[in-house]
Amino acid sequence: MSDKKRDYSKEELSKMSNDELARLGTELDGVTVAYRKERFPVANDPAEKRASRHVGIWLVLAVVFAVAFIGIYLFYPWQYKHLGEEGLWTYSLYTPLLGVTAGLGIVSLGIGIIVYTKSFIPEEISVQTRHDGPSDEVDRRTLVALLNDSWKTSTLGRRPMLKGLAGTGAVLAGLVIALPLGGIVKNPWKAKAMGIQGDGTLWTTGWTLVSEGQKVYLGRDTGAIAEMENGHYTTEGVSRLTRVRPEDLDAGAMETVFPLPEEMVNDGELYSPKRNVYEEHMHSIHGSRNAVMLIRLREADARKAVPRQGQETFHYGEYFAYSKICTHIGCPTSLYEQQTNRILCPCHQSQFDVMQYCKPIFGPAARALPQLPISVDEDGYLFADGDFIEPVGPAFWERRS
Ligand code: FES
Repeated sequence: MSDKKRDYSKEELSKMSNDELARLGTELDGVTVAYRKERFPVANDPAEKRASRHVGIWLVLAVVFAVAFIGIYLFYPWQYKHLGEEGLWTYSLYTPLLGVTAGLGIVSLGIGIIVYTKSFIPEEISVQTRHDGPSDEVDRRTLVALLNDSWKTSTLGRRPMLKGLAGTGAVLAGLVIALPLGGIVKNPWKAKAMGIQGDGTLWTTGWTLVSEGQKVYLGRDTGAIAEMENGHYTTEGVSRLTRVRPEDLDAGAMETVFPLPEEMVNDGELYSPKRNVYEEHMHSIHGSRNAVMLIRLREADARKAVPRQGQETFHYGEYFAYSKICTHIGCPTSLYEQQTNRILCPCHQSQFDVMQYCKPIFGPAARALPQLPISVDEDGYLFADGDFIEPVGPAFWERRS
């Protein structure tokens, strides 16, 4: 701490110029400026203009890339196109273009700031001794004066073009980060038309179509993709989802199935090589709450399985169907342990007991996995005999159990 006089009255402080206050601040703080050199001590130095242009170019680039990012984000055709569909090439450029423009915008702004600092901020080496405790009035006033001094010596105040460009660049860089967040803000209670992914609310799924009077089969994901025909790819006649028969599963097996409404079926006796249902099938697979685990218990286990009260008729013999969406925070509970009949969620290790209506027996999940009522129709295919009777997933909002 310096032994310089510290008890200045408000009047004395108010009479001092900014330079005097700044100097006083450095002295009181025990700061010694060991070395200081202005970048352009001579007025109207052509090198200063060159440096200013150099910084300006980077800031203009930052603005151009940020505007390009916002334009692409708002107006580019981003809608999904599958293999063989027109516009696939344009669609596949959407994400790379966002990444490239956002990256170049932020990098250009960063380079502009670095070049500005290296070109215009005076070179200075200062040494300060440390002190403890809170700052008093003198320190606070002199700090403000020092900040003012920094602004003045940065010369940014008399460079309106660079000031404007830097400000615009900073605002646009902020938008580049904030805008994409807008895309994930959604009203979870706003319902749209009911479709293969539900109606947009958190308590409906593709299986809810059953409540609308549609017959919905349990669809197996075949992994089929577009096929080459006459020199181009087509999804005509390609069935991504097919119906499942009970005999398709071995005892002790588990398979993930998705809702397959009757009108989207293109297999077995209903197969037509000219029908194209591929896109609808993919929408079903991509429905965030659609995935269901179809489990065939071994016969001896099935006899001992304890049904949940009110859900005694939900299974079909040894076949049980449970939502795959973990009731903790919604990960896919994909690990079925055949020997113990337990389902493990890999995210936080919740375990659900299939022998007891998939109630949680370990980990953070507090609610049983919702069970889908299933049955077999006259043609021998498994179908949903009703919708879930509770919301799937964490269901913080509407849970009853
Ligand atoms: S999401 Fe399944 S345990 Fe956390």
